[in-house]
Amino acid sequence: MSPRCRVNFNTMIFLVVLQGAAVVLFCNWYYQLSPCNSPPRKGKIHVLLLSSWRSGSSFLGQVFSQHPSVFYLMEPGWHVWTKIEKPGARVLRMAVRDLMRSLYQCDFSVMDSYMPENYNMSTLFMFHHSRALCSPPACSLTRRSDMSNETLCQKKCDSQGLEMVEKACHTYSHVVLKETRFFELESLYPLFQDPNLDLRIVHLVRDPRAVIRSREESAKSFDMDNAIVLEQRNVPAASIQYEVMQEVCRSHVRINERAILKPPPFLEGRYKMIRYEDVARNPLKEINDIYDFVGLEMTSQMEEWIYKVTHGKGKGSKKEAFQITSRNANEVSQAWRTVLQHSKVKRIQELCKGAMSLLGYRTVDSEKEQKRLDIDLLVPREPYEFSWVSAKSQRTGSS
Ligand SMILES: *[C@@H]1O[C@H](CO)[C@@H](O)[C@H](O)[C@H]1NC(C)=O
Ligand SMILES: *[C@@H]1O[C@H](CO)[C@@H](O)[C@H](O)[C@H]1NC(C)=O
Repeated sequence: MSPRCRVNFNTMIFLVVLQGAAVVLFCNWYYQLSPCNSPPRKGKIHVLLLSSWRSGSSFLGQVFSQHPSVFYLMEPGWHVWTKIEKPGARVLRMAVRDLMRSLYQCDFSVMDSYMPENYNMSTLFMFHHSRALCSPPACSLTRRSDMSNETLCQKKCDSQGLEMVEKACHTYSHVVLKETRFFELESLYPLFQDPNLDLRIVHLVRDPRAVIRSREESAKSFDMDNAIVLEQRNVPAASIQYEVMQEVCRSHVRINERAILKPPPFLEGRYKMIRYEDVARNPLKEINDIYDFVGLEMTSQMEEWIYKVTHGKGKGSKKEAFQITSRNANEVSQAWRTVLQHSKVKRIQELCKGAMSLLGYRTVDSEKEQKRLDIDLLVPREPYEFSWVSAKSQRTGSS
């Protein structure tokens, strides 16, 4: 090495060290200014919590929403479904997708089409379920590192327009949207291929027998959604719940098979299926896995909160159907077995046979079997993970 080279080399080292010091100083300064635990990463991570009605998605939504790094919105697609008159789900899915694409990038101008005049933050569907919208800069009520209180947030937090919402969104490393209004994955492909997005899908499913029981508790609130799911078809009132359930079950199969059996390359490693029952049995482990999958760190406060909300007492009252309360999650997930008429169980098992077998829910053959809670109806998940690995290696082998 010539001396001149060495000088340059030393200078370079010096510059690198200087730059490193500058970065450390900057981070330190940023850290002190910023009320959040860690500065947002350059590349945001976008998460779609994809689920169906009454499948525990409010709870899993809160698992994201309460996390200090997450900007969460609950069902922005609701605005699309309620604003556009009487179409079917097929017509609306692209509008919902494009809405999500903008929201993931914190562009809320797209909401303008779906909002009334003079809208405020509180016009956003269930805005108070988003901890981020109860915290600075959106609202001064809850520190970003604290758990929010929906009741208080609804009372105390609001602002004109969505400017503050947008501002808040920009300050988080993760934008998580929960949707119950997708019945296939293909319409989302452009989001996976968009270089501005780093999308992960958490697909939450639940035993359809438990879902039907839960839907019965709040049947009226589903009228509009049912009509859209059934593409405004004329269906006898007594069959509506079942036909909707059949659509939901079909969509689980469609989505899961698409993502697991023959995924396009851009889907690999970006899809995770979660069974509500597994979360109910083993909340901390499952939620740790979900956090890992989307690149979030577990905090001791989240751990405590998760324990608290999954270890309360009782099955929950009718009034609580849409609330997350301290209930024994595992007990809740079995409640259908003592309450739901066996004839209904049989009907659902017929309609959802394929989905139940794919997702690992055992059918019952008699009322006695249904009510014997010591008989476990959940197939352990390992075989599914195994089949994913083998499907993958088969593909690599054949290509
Ligand atoms: C938004 O808030 C303003 C007052 O801040 C109120 O006059 C207006 O009615 C609200 N708009 C809606 C759509 O609630
Ligand atoms: C939320 O705040 C309300 C009003 O102060 C209070 O009654 C309620 O217990 C709080 N809820 C939780 C879960 O802390």
